[in-house]
Amino acid sequence: MLVPTEQLLQHARQDRYAVGAFNVYTLEAVRAVVSAAEESRSPAILQVLPKALELGGTALIALCLEAARTAGVPLSVHLDHCSSADTIETALEAGISSIMADGSGLPYDRNLAFTRQMVDLTLSRGKSVEAELGRLSGSEDGMTVARRDACLTDPAQAEMFADQSGVHALAVCIGNVHGTYHAPPQLDFKRLAAIADRVRIPLVLHGTSGLPDAMITRAVALGVCKFNVNTELRSAGMAAGAAYLEEAYKPELVERMQVEVNAMRQPVMAKIGLFGSAGKAS
Ligand code: G3H
Ligand code: ZN
Repeated sequence: MLVPTEQLLQHARQDRYAVGAFNVYTLEAVRAVVSAAEESRSPAILQVLPKALELGGTALIALCLEAARTAGVPLSVHLDHCSSADTIETALEAGISSIMADGSGLPYDRNLAFTRQMVDLTLSRGKSVEAELGRLSGSEDGMTVARRDACLTDPAQAEMFADQSGVHALAVCIGNVHGTYHAPPQLDFKRLAAIADRVRIPLVLHGTSGLPDAMITRAVALGVCKFNVNTELRSAGMAAGAAYLEEAYKPELVERMQVEVNAMRQPVMAKIGLFGSAGKAS
């Protein structure tokens, strides 16, 4: 069933677990997330990046919304990392449940101004907004942020930003990076605890692929309510599809699609277990 993202995150915050937000680009990925969530009796979020929307158009949002409506567990559909007001408007028109107004590349004041505008736009349609404070390094869909520009979230500034912007969820930077971790991840849990102490809205952690299990469970215990997962899912699907084409005597498209669904289900199931959302579908 399709439910508001805010409802999913508020429930997770009260019950001290986290909801997985999985980036989807294709029907196969959507099927993988929905079937893993249903098997685990877990809520989940289907999220799309602006780059995926460029290719799939609003039909991709429609696919996710219909998959959510017909699923046997609560799901929402979220626009991930968006710094364009026009794209946010288009996604809202298409019925998306929530958006991430990403002004994290801007100085504090401009991030705040942009986020407030997007909160006004989104709230008028009864939907919710995630924003980010601090800046993630790593890359995702061509979006690269030089390591030297990356900065971690300041707890006092996070409290101020949450109060002043009116956002419903806040993504924090505590050493997490998008894509592959080229060195063992080092998350600043002291900083996360200080942020959680001051900020009264659900916290979000991006760059979940490649984080050790113990770090994920520790972040949940400290108050992270939403984890964004992309790379692990995407690579599992692509690797399985490529292996199928290599090995199949007479490849069939539907068989390849099913192989990809099965492969992408695995990281989704594993992450749901770590986030503590299994069995929370009621
Ligand atoms: O917004 C999406 C993510 O933060 C995903 O990061 O590719 O490292 O899992 P990831
Ligand atoms: Zn992200």
